[in-house]
Formats: sequence, C-alpha cells, structure tokens
Amino acid sequence: MTSTQRIGILTSGGDCPGLNAVIRAVVKCANRRGWDVIGIPYSTAGFIEVADGKYDPDHLRLADHGYDIPGILQGLDVLQFLSGTILGSLNKGYPDGADNVAKILAGYQKLNLDALIAIGGDGSLDIIYDLAQRGGWNLIGIPKTIDNDVPFTEKSIGFNSAVQTVNSALYDLTFTAASHDRVMVVEVMGRDAGHLALHGGIAGGADVILIPELVPVLTPQVVTQICQHIAELRQRGRKFALVVVAEGVRGEDGQRQHLIGDLLATAIADRSRTLCQTGDTAYCDMDRVETRAMVLGHIQRSGIPTASDRLLAAAFGRKAIDLIAEGRYNRMVVWEAGRVRSKDLGDVIATVHDCHQRGVCPSPVEADSTMVKVARSLGIYVGDPETLPDPKAVMPEIPAIV
Ligand code: F6P
Repeated sequence: MTSTQRIGILTSGGDCPGLNAVIRAVVKCANRRGWDVIGIPYSTAGFIEVADGKYDPDHLRLADHGYDIPGILQGLDVLQFLSGTILGSLNKGYPDGADNVAKILAGYQKLNLDALIAIGGDGSLDIIYDLAQRGGWNLIGIPKTIDNDVPFTEKSIGFNSAVQTVNSALYDLTFTAASHDRVMVVEVMGRDAGHLALHGGIAGGADVILIPELVPVLTPQVVTQICQHIAELRQRGRKFALVVVAEGVRGEDGQRQHLIGDLLATAIADRSRTLCQTGDTAYCDMDRVETRAMVLGHIQRSGIPTASDRLLAAAFGRKAIDLIAEGRYNRMVVWEAGRVRSKDLGDVIATVHDCHQRGVCPSPVEADSTMVKVARSLGIYVGDPETLPDPKAVMPEIPAIV
C-alpha cells in the first residue's frame, strides 16, 4: 500500500439529505492525510464516461470546499447544509447499454484508484459490491436511505432528516385539521419498511400510524378499528385526527397501491358514515367526518440535513477513511449501540439477497421494538395485536450472521 492514496467516492441510488455532508467529511479526513479524493459523477455511469474519455480524471479531484467563495464568506462550506448530491446519482441498477460492465471496470482502472467509497442503499451497494468482486476493487460502503432499511446498521444517512420532514408536515397540518375537524391522512415513503412512518408519526403527534410490518394489508377490519379509534378521540374532545400511512401498506387485494393514502382517506370517510348509520350513539356524529389525503413524496428526500444526520455523516466519513488507512476493505460502516463500527460487506449483501429472494424487507421494524411499544403506550393506533396476522409470518426473521 502506498502512503499517498487516491480514493474514489460516488453516491448511488435515491438521494437523501446528508450525502454532501458525507462527501465533505471524506474529503476533509482524506486531505488531512495528504490523500486525493476523486468524485465519480452519476455513480457507476461515471466510470463509463471516464472509459469513453469524456472526463479528464484530474478535473474530478475534490478539494476542501468553499475557498473559492468571494468576500467574507470565503471558506464557507455549504456542503454540510445542502441536500442532494454534488456528484449526481443513478437510480436504475446497472447503467443501460452493451458492454457496460466491462466499461465500468475499465473506467475504474483508468482512474488508478486505491480504494472506492460507495454511499448507497441496499440495492446500489449490492450492484457495486458485485462490480468490486469482478474488478478486485477495494470497496468501503456507507449506508444511506430515508427508509432506514439497510441491514446491520441502526442508522443510515438521511433517515433522521426525513423523520424531521414528516414531523414538520404533521405540525403544519395540525391546525388546518383542527380548524375543520378533519382527518388528515398523510402518506409517507419507506418502501417496504415502516421506520420513517413510525418515527415521524410518533414525533409529529399522529393518532394512527400504519406500517407494513404491523398492518401489511388494509382490511375492512383495520379501517373499522381506525374509525372506532377516531370516534373515541372525538368523544373525548379531539375532533380532528392525524393518520400516517406508510407507502408499503397494501390494499385489500394485497397489491401495492399507487396512492394508499387516498384509498385510506376514502375508506375512513365511507366507513365512518356506515358506523353512524348503525344507530350506535358512540358513532352518532361520525357522518360528519371529513377526510383529506396528502402524499409527502420527494420532499422527504430533500430539505436541510438535520444535525443528527450531519454528525452521522462526519462519523461515517471518518470511519471510511480510517478503514482504508488500516487496509480493511470490503466493509460497510455501521452505527451499532452508540458506536461507529464496520461489518463485512459480503455478509450484508448475502442478507440483502436472501431477503429480496424471499420478498421481505432486509431490515424491518420489529413488532416488539421500543418505538412500537411507545406508540401503543401513547394510545396511537398501530393495528390491533389481537386481530392482526402474526408479523413473523409476514416478515420472516433475518438469519443471524456469525
Ligand atoms: O428508497 C428511497 C425511496 O425514497 C423510497 O422511500 C421510495 O419508495 C423510493 O425511493 C422512490 O423512488 P423514486 O425517486 O425512484 O420514485
């Protein structure tokens, strides 16, 4: 190993807040060791462009940022504040085109890199790990995703900022909901995992939180229970309600829905009226229940990275550089019990493969996790444990890795 190293860095998969903060941390830590950092544009697609001669490798070198800003702001490093990724990203697996794998490997070689840091989610790390195996690359993975569903790490870059966005949206909706006695249904991202909906929902004061791990399917029984919960809140004086639904919750037919929030809002309004028609006095004003749905969508992927995400970015970036300095490759940096550590990337990818093959989430919300218990203890409806399917039948356990 040479003492001066040339490190590549790329961002892959869906963007999220905090990616630039990781890039900044990597560049700072590497530069202080006298190492060069080469930013690869648009993930693996950038290697193809390098192979095709579209980039001068010297122009891809990343420097400690902000010293080109004029006046009194010189030295201001906006990368810690800005979402998105200055490198661009790729969200569709391997880049299109014939011979692309060979071109990616050729582009990597042309850059003469000692190691590569890939900031990605489970899907993109899987692809880049495969390429690294083929090309003999020295790879370090840094987990990022607002879904927080990368196995072996308790935290991924972007998750906390997205939780903050959901939390703020619920705050902003509270007063209009209260003014009109409305039920606001908010659809939240998360792919097949419910971490974002659960954490954002609890923080933002939701009355109902539906996540796929606890309520995989929106059955009529679930809708009835939600309406009964809303009726109880109304009797106690809370005339409005905030309902959070994760996009991974499926429709009654068990299929993924384009707009599960809309479907739920309509179902709550319809079911409220039929409950009222039963003549039961507990439900006599439920015919007045009005619902509105909104999809939070991609604002969850943008916004200002929270302090917590910036700290995680700094800690992960530093760890990645330390691993390279120690010559420990094919590792993914992780957050575990309050510490930054690393895991064998091969083990991470094996778990991801296994879960994808079985059609289950690689890192789901555990039904007996602290936050599920917190939600229940606060009186938030997250599904009735008596009537719901055994979550283990829906989300089989991930095999332990020794
Ligand atoms: O994985 C991150 C994520 O934002 C998911 O929560 C969401 O389902 C998906 O990406 C959306 O992807 P796209 O930006 O391609 O629509």
